[in-house]
Amino acid sequence: MTKNNNTSSAKKRDNKGIMLRLGGYVVSQWHLFVPAVIFTLLSNQLSLMGPRYSGAALDAIEAAGGVDFPTVWSNVARMIICYAASALLSYVLAVIMIHLSQRIIYKMRRQVFEKLNTLPVGYFDTHPTGDIISHISYDIDTINSTLSHDLVQVMTSVYTVVGSLIFMWQISKPMILIFVFTVPVSILFTRYRSKKVRPLFRARSKKYGELNGYAEEMLSGARSIEAYGRQDVISERFSRRNEDAMDAYYKAEYNAALLFPSINLINNFSIAMVAIFGGILYMYSQNGTFAAGSMLFISLGGVAQFVQYSRKFAGPINEFSNILHEFQSAFSAAERVFRILDEESEPRDAEDAAELKNVKGDVEIDSVSFGYTPEKQILKNISVKASAGQTVAIVGPTGAGKTTVINLLMRFYDPDTGVIRIDLVPSLKIKRADLRLAYTMVLQDTWLFHGTVYENIVYGRENATEDEVKAAARAAKIDSFIESLPDGYNTVLSDDGVNVSKGQKQLITIARAFLSDAPMLILDEATSNVDSRTEIQIQEAMDSLMRGRTCFVIAHRLSTIKNADTILVVKDGTVIEQGSHDELIRLGGFYSSLYNSQFS
Ligand SMILES: Nc1ncnc2c1ncn2[C@@H]1O[C@H](COP(=O)(O)OP(=O)(O)O)[C@@H](O)[C@H]1O
Ligand SMILES: [Mg+2]
Repeated sequence: MTKNNNTSSAKKRDNKGIMLRLGGYVVSQWHLFVPAVIFTLLSNQLSLMGPRYSGAALDAIEAAGGVDFPTVWSNVARMIICYAASALLSYVLAVIMIHLSQRIIYKMRRQVFEKLNTLPVGYFDTHPTGDIISHISYDIDTINSTLSHDLVQVMTSVYTVVGSLIFMWQISKPMILIFVFTVPVSILFTRYRSKKVRPLFRARSKKYGELNGYAEEMLSGARSIEAYGRQDVISERFSRRNEDAMDAYYKAEYNAALLFPSINLINNFSIAMVAIFGGILYMYSQNGTFAAGSMLFISLGGVAQFVQYSRKFAGPINEFSNILHEFQSAFSAAERVFRILDEESEPRDAEDAAELKNVKGDVEIDSVSFGYTPEKQILKNISVKASAGQTVAIVGPTGAGKTTVINLLMRFYDPDTGVIRIDLVPSLKIKRADLRLAYTMVLQDTWLFHGTVYENIVYGRENATEDEVKAAARAAKIDSFIESLPDGYNTVLSDDGVNVSKGQKQLITIARAFLSDAPMLILDEATSNVDSRTEIQIQEAMDSLMRGRTCFVIAHRLSTIKNADTILVVKDGTVIEQGSHDELIRLGGFYSSLYNSQFS
């Protein structure tokens, strides 16, 4: 799974819209956000007061009639109280912000997940699972850290910069002049460096993404790699990517590491200037050249305060470009998350959509044409009829459109033209949920979830009894295998758990299908990918599964197909032959040559 932070930069991002929308989440937690703002202001105000008291204490030490101890102590005490209270408040603030961001993140994750549940199957056909997962985890995490750290940081920075400026203005107007020179230098320098460093970090995550992607590809192909004996080549290629990633890492970190000392140097330089200039002003104030009350007059405490405020002032200014960057990545993460939330859900059922009750199982596909995209038509004018209990087999080369027919039956997609009827009712007029429940599907890709064997079978009908589950397993001829497992029906199926073969997995999904009392059955290449002995076993299980149901069967093996009531031969989306086995053999066309090639 490669994480790409910059996919969105192709389109101009609506930063304002995203900010407002994120702001909406924050405001929805106003009972946390309002105290957070108040605490931020208070905590910063208190911390800004500190230097005042330390300055006053210094002035009292230097008082004309010797050290004025009572004033010194009271100012020192106030200073300590201010700093302590500020620290306490920022601790409470941090806790509040963690709560705030957690609530928002929780809400966002739930919204995304609920959204995913309403999206049509087509969305998942066109969006890689890895990307979707990275939106739920990585992107939402990015938003999380921005909300919990950077938001307060911004408020703090602004308050500190403005507050320090006001205090410094009150202490000595001439000394502020120094910043007119130093601040632009440090801002320009930071921006210059960040401009240089940021692409290096981007390159770094790109290289890491490539490395991960390569590793993932190789791991999933371990079997083939070993079979072809390509380990050496593979590991050499991996080393090369690994080195690239190392280089990119070093370059990014090295240049970033340079930034900090340089900025520090500039800051310290400006503080030295403040001290020197302050010292000179102080000297002339002492010997009476600058009268008390004049703009140039400054006390020793004043100089000390000024130095402290200038430190406070410089910090956030240098941080600012970093924070801006954090916000940028949070915005692009939010954009990707919002894009999912804005996806079109599967359209609602039509107003007059009927419930489907006591389905007999007559299915009719009537002159249906369909394309996944307007440019490319996949199915062209397909018609076929299956009365209740009949079997329709669909035969044809890979890519002919067989699975597409199934997608339309299940209403994962709807036809462009033509109608599909169930018990004579057009499927668009039936509630989707009812329609889908009327079908049971067994597909080529078995889907078992992390859970016990029992849970996986009972998924076919949640209210089934234990006896029914066992009967289903018996019907699927998988009962003796399940009983031989260490925990029988309670054995947990997981990636690294017991070794269940592909065929056995398929039999478990067939058992699941047995439980469902749906009147219609879809088998899409359910016996591919298994060995021929298991195939015979699965075949027997499927034959009894098919009994009494209207079936649509796609299979490689023509022996499965022979007994179908209607065989539909599809090529490039068109029905080229249609009829029973005997009729098609007599016809001597595509089907008959296919049949003869398999059984000659
Ligand atoms: N979700 C999709 N989006 C766009 N094209 C698709 C999608 N699914 C399948 N196709 C295309 O539709 C054609 C028919 O596919 P499919 O019905 O799966 O064939 P079959 O099951 O007969 O092998 C293929 O050309 C395939 O590339
Ligand atoms: Mg297919």
